Amino acid sequence: MNHPDIALITGANKGIGFETARQLAALGHTVILGARKAAEGQSAVASIGPQAHFLLLDMASPESIQAAAQSVFTQFGRLDILVNNAGIGPENGMKPSEAPMELIRQTFETNVFGLVQLTQALLPLLRQSQHGRIVNVSSVLGSLTVNSDPNAELGSWRSFGYNGSKAAVNMFTATLAAELKSTPIKVNSAHPGWVKTDLGGDQAPLEVADGAKTSVRLATLPDNGPTGGFFHFNDTLPW
Ligand SMILES: NC(=O)c1ccc[n+]([C@@H]2O[C@H](COP(=O)([O-])OP(=O)(O)OC[C@H]3O[C@@H](n4cnc5c(N)ncnc54)[C@H](OP(=O)(O)O)[C@@H]3O)[C@@H](O)[C@H]2O)c1
Repeated sequence: MNHPDIALITGANKGIGFETARQLAALGHTVILGARKAAEGQSAVASIGPQAHFLLLDMASPESIQAAAQSVFTQFGRLDILVNNAGIGPENGMKPSEAPMELIRQTFETNVFGLVQLTQALLPLLRQSQHGRIVNVSSVLGSLTVNSDPNAELGSWRSFGYNGSKAAVNMFTATLAAELKSTPIKVNSAHPGWVKTDLGGDQAPLEVADGAKTSVRLATLPDNGPTGGFFHFNDTLPW
């Protein structure tokens, strides 16, 4: 590591988000763990150690996002890495023709609108960093190329709300990276793989330690690293 950074990871009380925070802390960075449940967030922070801090952050609440961003300004006054990891998939295999609108709205609220609002609110701090990094945790399920391939083996994973939300996240990555091209900030989308978590389920082949690797790599890219890409480990994925 060349320089210790300050990183905010959303949805960091468990799963891939917690593991991303743990691995970034192990690399020597200061980590701020965003979580909507205070007790779970604080216990995750305690299990990482003194360089971890708790931030109350509900990605489905514009007021909570505003207050959390304000606390990052006042408590830390600096931010180098933002890992937009929090995500939900409540449709759970429902067909696009049948999924309740309420579930689709909830999914976009957390996965897309919350992510965009938080990123916009924290950009002034990221712009002050010499090496700002934004990692948008997406999914291969957000790939239009994959979803439009009738032979793609997606099984029941062709839900519109979740897949559509991740496609929108990818578009945010592409458009924001283009806007920030002349700055040091790198913006990339990560597909963690199919990972054993509460969301991924027990059948998933990847352990959470590997599931966090793509986010950690993109959070710690060197200054000559890529921006505006969609990655799984070192591989580039189709949009
Ligand atoms: N697991 C996979 O196979 C897989 C594959 C591709 C992409 N992903 C993506 O990876 C990311 C992490 O998923 P995961 O597998 O680690 O799932 P997970 O174990 O269910 O963890 C999701 C995290 O997001 C948080 N979260 C959900 N809604 C939130 C909200 N409104 N405000 C704040 N935090 C919220 C959860 O907090 P609570 O505990 O409060 O619910 C939890 O900390 C997601 O973006 C997911 O779409 C996962």
